[in-house]
Amino acid sequence: MIIRPATIREATATDWPRIWPFFRAIVAEGETYAYPDDLTSDEARALWLEPPPGHAVVAVDEDGTVLGSAKMGPNRPGRGAHVATASFMVDPAHGGRGVGAALGRYVLDWARTNGYRGMQFNAVVETNTVAVALWQRLGFEIIGTVPEAFHSRSHGYVGLHVMYQRFSGLAG
Ligand SMILES: CC(C)(COP(=O)(O)OP(=O)(O)OC[C@H]1O[C@@H](n2cnc3c(N)ncnc32)[C@H](O)[C@@H]1OP(=O)(O)O)[C@@H](O)C(=O)NCCC(=O)NCCS
Repeated sequence: MIIRPATIREATATDWPRIWPFFRAIVAEGETYAYPDDLTSDEARALWLEPPPGHAVVAVDEDGTVLGSAKMGPNRPGRGAHVATASFMVDPAHGGRGVGAALGRYVLDWARTNGYRGMQFNAVVETNTVAVALWQRLGFEIIGTVPEAFHSRSHGYVGLHVMYQRFSGLAG
């Protein structure tokens, strides 16, 4: 099978019906996100498709299939708004073909282009080894780990990593 690079473009409300099935499946799996189990589609859409200064994108195949999605924006309002954050969900049916890495590179480019001074991931589940390794490869380091902060469906209470990447070359 030839795997072609995904195109990444802004997510719109019309993409949501294609995002929601894998969003729901990933949350229901209970291994990676601390969203409420009983989120409705409307509630999840409001959380994921953030208004500006937030930004949400989808990675799409040549035929328009939505392979994954990411959202990004300031990690904190006001005096914390110079540090970005981001979240990622790749449809498990399309995992392991480089979509997560492409979305990771996209959000880093977006944050640098928009003048952020660094990017922080607030809650990377320590047993989510694919994500931890991917973020480390993209330049993030584990700043610390909040012990037993996540109740994994299969591993029980596990730590949440705070991961951070400082952007160099910014003045001021
Ligand atoms: C984490 C996630 C975004 C990765 O997306 P992805 O598209 O599968 O990742 P990629 O295909 O870009 O793979 C990245 C690396 O992980 C490896 N990988 C991906 N899935 C894997 C798996 N199931 N088992 C082992 N390795 C895997 C790839 O081989 C690749 O390694 P390489 O660069 O050495 O080749 C995706 O699995 C996901 O959405 N998970 C559920 C939600 C989540 O965890 N979000 C992130 C929260 S911090």
